Amino acid sequence: MTNENKISINVGSPKKPIDSMIYSNFVEHLGECIQNGLWAYDPVNVPLVTDNPVLIGMRQDVLQAVKELKLTVLRAFGGCYSDVYHWKDAIGSRDSRKFVKNLHWGAIEGAPPEIGPDIENQFGTDEFLTLCEEIGAKPYLNVNYGTGTPEEAADWVEYCNGSIDTEYGALRAKNGRKEPYNVKIWGIANEIFGFWEPGYEKLPENYAKKYLKFAKKMREKDPTIKLVACGYENSNWNRTVLKNIGEEWVDYISIHRYLPYGAGKVTGKKHPDNQRCYYALMASSPLIENDINDTWNDIIAALGKNSHVRIAFDEWGVWYLFMDIVKTNYNLQDGVWTAIILMTFQKMSDKCPMANWAQLVNCIGTIQTDPDGLILTPVYLAFKLFVDHTYNNLIENLNVNCETFDTDKFRRIPKANNVPYIDCNATINDEGNKLSIMLINKHFTEPLNITLEIEGFSPKEQGVLVELNSQSPFEYNTIENRNKIKLEHKEIDDVKPNMTLELPAHSVKVIKLNKK
Ligand code: AHR
Repeated sequence: MTNENKISINVGSPKKPIDSMIYSNFVEHLGECIQNGLWAYDPVNVPLVTDNPVLIGMRQDVLQAVKELKLTVLRAFGGCYSDVYHWKDAIGSRDSRKFVKNLHWGAIEGAPPEIGPDIENQFGTDEFLTLCEEIGAKPYLNVNYGTGTPEEAADWVEYCNGSIDTEYGALRAKNGRKEPYNVKIWGIANEIFGFWEPGYEKLPENYAKKYLKFAKKMREKDPTIKLVACGYENSNWNRTVLKNIGEEWVDYISIHRYLPYGAGKVTGKKHPDNQRCYYALMASSPLIENDINDTWNDIIAALGKNSHVRIAFDEWGVWYLFMDIVKTNYNLQDGVWTAIILMTFQKMSDKCPMANWAQLVNCIGTIQTDPDGLILTPVYLAFKLFVDHTYNNLIENLNVNCETFDTDKFRRIPKANNVPYIDCNATINDEGNKLSIMLINKHFTEPLNITLEIEGFSPKEQGVLVELNSQSPFEYNTIENRNKIKLEHKEIDDVKPNMTLELPAHSVKVIKLNKK
């Protein structure tokens, strides 16, 4: 297409630390995320976990796949469901757990029953926290603000973090776990500004007032916990909430964004595999950037520029139609989009140190399960590119010169002009001797040649390329062909500080270099 695409990277320029909490995820009782997803309820033809007594009930393949995703934070049990979740229903011996109706997802008029099946509560607090330990992720619990009480939330903090001399610490020990779990991140309410949420608060002042009651009771049990307040894409809401809560009682404000998203009770073709949707997604990262910048301005306006409060983007992802959520296989297009947005999070992690893809398994999930195995979607593979092949310091002085494209509106994504075909981030390790350059070609059909100029880092000739791509952006991994799309690794031995590379259409490529 063109030979004029040029990227220059000045490795000697300032570096910005990337918070690893941007590689986080989320689970709730919705569709088959937990039941028949993370936790095996119906019989499956794969082995279950046997070596961790608390996790008996999980599939080995799911546990292994989640471990390999190297999540830093895992949020539970909602989402919307958190505002109807009573944690005490899901502790103690398995046969004593309370069988409940899904009072959020199972109560949506006109929704198919698979969205909110009854809940057996076999996967509760101990199972979730043990899973987090097993996979090395920090747990993040959202308390029940909508239909719960500050006391119930405080009891949960004590169950998780209290010593065995406390009432709920003793109960935890009776249930098999003496050592506190030490859960640090706690959210108070989810999307509580929305009419759909049990406990809906129309006025931010009212939310802040009740939030403080929760926060104070919870911190009486553990003063060291970090608290997440519910934010919104509305400055008046965010500023009023933060001003009324005050710096001392909040550590993060949450925001959510799903794209391209079709609201209402629409069902239909699950995945719009067409060029218009493809390009709209490829052009949509400014929406996420704006969400972060707007919320950041709200923090400063409410609490001043020295505030310690940061943004938790605790739900984000590709979601096409509201009702089509139970099993959500993703294609390459979605994987490329995920990489674009993770690059955005890398750039903005000083303002937004945590981001949780929603959700982990089946329901808008990175991993899809069936009785015989797993589908690791291109979204999963995009996360792997970051956690396995990028480093924790972003190089700030990086210039991309390339051709651009224009797009049309698609659902919630507005039209856009002059969108670059190529995105690039470069990251380096703390020692400064390992460099990773990630390049995305968003072009629908054309490979692009680029000239790459690296200054201030003298690379060895040997390097590694890792690539996420397939023949079409609309290809999937499926039960019939589970590994059609996979990360391809290639060793190279002709690296130079100035080189030309070909980026295939709709691809993500990472070049890993070592210093001479
Ligand atoms: O992730 C699915 C749902 O989307 C969450 O429960 C809710 O917070 C959001 O609206």
